[in-house]
Amino acid sequence: MDQNELKKAVARAAAQYVKERLDDRMIIGVGTGSTANLFIEYLGEFRDDIYATVASSEETARRLKALGIEVMDLNAAPEVSIYVDGADEANKYLQLIKGGGGALTREKIIAAVAREFVCIADGSKMVDVLGTFPLPVEVIPMARSYVGREIVKLGGDPVYRDGCITDNGNIIIDIHNMNIVDPRTLEQQLNQITGVVTNGLFALRPADKLILGTKDGLRTLT
Ligand code: A5P
Repeated sequence: MDQNELKKAVARAAAQYVKERLDDRMIIGVGTGSTANLFIEYLGEFRDDIYATVASSEETARRLKALGIEVMDLNAAPEVSIYVDGADEANKYLQLIKGGGGALTREKIIAAVAREFVCIADGSKMVDVLGTFPLPVEVIPMARSYVGREIVKLGGDPVYRDGCITDNGNIIIDIHNMNIVDPRTLEQQLNQITGVVTNGLFALRPADKLILGTKDGLRTLT
């Protein structure tokens, strides 16, 4: 199976997992990216049974609405039962790097609210140590240079993501060349930098379940 087939397999499995738990008031959190887009397509197969969703990006909201699936404002959602999203990297503790698509802040908000966070990824995303994938940081535009200097002090190489404006009107700095041996501490340190909105480490709130697509089949880690 190629990478796209593996993504389809995990997206289908996550949709099945959600379907088995549906009730008439269930609100589903929906992520962003190519794997999440496949999940959205599978949601479309039982759209009439879905009460509502909350979306982690404008793009995801657009895709859901195009299928006729209700998208709620998170502030109007009493709770989010299950949040399904992809990842750029994952380790065996289900800590993640996310934000390759620039949607990290809204993704992190939904993950914080959700009762269960199900991450779906092809096997290439599994690593021993996070950090080969550049770690995205969403930054208030006027703080760009300052935040960059602070990132250097933490040992990373900050690279401005040219031309990327987030759904929240901010910029992204990607941190290259960081071997992230203590993701929880780094997540907190980055959050402490004034001007940082959020960072793409999901270590303080890791996934609850990781459905991984490998050439030998699906593996579920909890
Ligand atoms: C979006 O901002 C990201 O967090 C995605 O979830 C992540 O980049 C995974 O994307 P793919 O499913 O496209 O690999």
